[in-house]
Amino acid sequence: MDHRRDHYLEAMGITRWVPRQAAAESHAQISADGGSLPDLDWESLRCRVLECDLCELHQGRTQAVFGVGNSAADWMIVGEAPGAEEDRVGEPFVGRAGQLLDAMLDGLGLSRRSVFIANVLKCRPPNNRDPHPEEIEQCAPYLERQIALVAPRVILAVGRVAAQRLLGTNAPLGRMRGQIHHYGADEVPVIVTYHPAYLLRRPGEKAKSWRDLLLAAQVVASSCG
Ligand code: URA
Repeated sequence: MDHRRDHYLEAMGITRWVPRQAAAESHAQISADGGSLPDLDWESLRCRVLECDLCELHQGRTQAVFGVGNSAADWMIVGEAPGAEEDRVGEPFVGRAGQLLDAMLDGLGLSRRSVFIANVLKCRPPNNRDPHPEEIEQCAPYLERQIALVAPRVILAVGRVAAQRLLGTNAPLGRMRGQIHHYGADEVPVIVTYHPAYLLRRPGEKAKSWRDLLLAAQVVASSCG
């Protein structure tokens, strides 16, 4: 990939469409710290994310939001993208939705420090718009590497964007709930639930979400190791 050309296109405000293969290649070739993405250790991956300029979202961010918590956690929580508060603080789920997520985790005897929390996108989309497909394509390899390094016993996908990306489907969220899915070659169990921001708008759905969390807890309890 010609990075100078990309910078020109970017400066002209032209969005480059990035197919899956090209996204993989851009990650493989950018190796200022000497490694391609699938080989990076935790710290190199964090640096790569914090310095990332592969899509136009880097221009509007205060900072990239790598993730927070225990890098050897049993539970990994995956959301959509940082919002305004997360962009300011540099940590996922610190706004109102995050407080609800904390309360949900607390109900299971977990905390944001004992799990690992990350998003599909590491940079805030302007005005909290939905992520564009090419942004997800560019950014998802970071999440894939995070999952490989954490090797969680369960992934809780909160919301449609995270669930659809992890499961490679366009299915509606309601149809993905209530089942144990699997992610990647290691077949990490994935449980899908509502996004906490949705639960703030529709508190009546909290009971269903709690059932999803209990299913995830059951998956962790029944896995060995
Ligand atoms: N919503 C998300 O999906 N992630 C965050 O970090 C904050 C809000």
